[in-house]
Amino acid sequence: MDKSGNKKFLSGFIIPDDRWFLLPYYLVVFFIILTLMYYCGWVYDLISDQCRDDTSYPIAILKIQECYMISIRGKKAIVTGGAMGIGLATAKRLLSEGCDVAIWDVNAEALKNAEKELKSHGHGKIYTYQCDVTDNKAVLKTVRKSIEDLRRIDILINNAGIERHGRFCDKPVSEWELVIDVNLKSIFYTTHAILPHMYERNSGYIINISSAAGIIGAANLTAYCATKWAVWGFTESLRYEVIMDEKDIQLTSVHPHYLKEGLFAGGHLNWFGDILLPRLKSHDVVAKAIVNKAIKKKRNTVKIPITLQIGSICRGLLPDSLLMYLGAKWFGLGKAMNDWVGYKK
Ligand SMILES: NC(=O)c1ccc[n+]([C@@H]2O[C@H](COP(=O)([O-])OP(=O)(O)OC[C@H]3O[C@@H](n4cnc5c(N)ncnc54)[C@H](O)[C@@H]3O)[C@@H](O)[C@H]2O)c1
Repeated sequence: MDKSGNKKFLSGFIIPDDRWFLLPYYLVVFFIILTLMYYCGWVYDLISDQCRDDTSYPIAILKIQECYMISIRGKKAIVTGGAMGIGLATAKRLLSEGCDVAIWDVNAEALKNAEKELKSHGHGKIYTYQCDVTDNKAVLKTVRKSIEDLRRIDILINNAGIERHGRFCDKPVSEWELVIDVNLKSIFYTTHAILPHMYERNSGYIINISSAAGIIGAANLTAYCATKWAVWGFTESLRYEVIMDEKDIQLTSVHPHYLKEGLFAGGHLNWFGDILLPRLKSHDVVAKAIVNKAIKKKRNTVKIPITLQIGSICRGLLPDSLLMYLGAKWFGLGKAMNDWVGYKK
């Protein structure tokens, strides 16, 4: 090819000679590719921040967003199951933001330890109440006491939860009844008692802690998954009521994947599932999402890590039989609890 032919080939390859009018089109494609690359990096950074133990990446874009988020200083919050794990981490974050926090828990000893730990934390006031959230009378009494102390309730975080796993038919009825009472009925009791109070003031946040297991089923976790799916359905249905009543009350369901520590320590998917859906590194990752995404950004559902969204998309797009096959064979949902150690770790 001669010199001019070469030049012609190159200019024709990049933009055909007679098609300069396509330049805006090429520019748009270029910007789409740049945006995709940017979001891939953003998702990677976000997952690293949530799931890796060793490094916490400085994510400039998220930091900038955080600066613009609303302040919740002075808000009054209740956190059920707040003496340990995600509840305790959330109470810490709320106190640091300047909220007054009431933590409810059934475990008196854990409550005492939490009170000591939280006293030196943040600027807000801390109140502790021993309360079994499966007992409606106790819930009503503790709501009254909390309103007396806090003066009002702006934020309710329904976090108390337990897990019981094992083959469905091997478990006694009493065990799955307990899971339903703690993980689901308790949310009905607290919300039933506190929502009218928020309606009166036309403001409030109710954050219900569901789970990744509230989006994707898993073998040997039947009662737990059932309650967490129900929490999602309850939150969404109640949100419709609030929207129809034109009330400024935010209802959010939070769906964390397995954490490496605490209640689900040892639980994991297989190697492929773990790449796609890495386990979360600490309770604080969930606490941060509750405060920043559910409360400050008023998101309706918060899925952590962000790749959990792929589960929802696959459910909508794939035939059910293929979804089951992929879940069992490729992601390890059939054996996710085999190496579970929980708090024994
Ligand atoms: N840890 C995880 O990997 C994970 C993942 C997804 C969702 N979740 C959900 O997050 C929530 C918190 O889990 P966690 O990991 O912090 O668990 P956790 O066991 O560390 O803490 C739960 C707290 O709830 C309290 N509690 C239990 N039964 C209660 C009752 N009847 N009345 C009052 N308090 C009660 C416990 O005493 C404890 O302090 C739960 O709803 C759980 O299902 C946890």
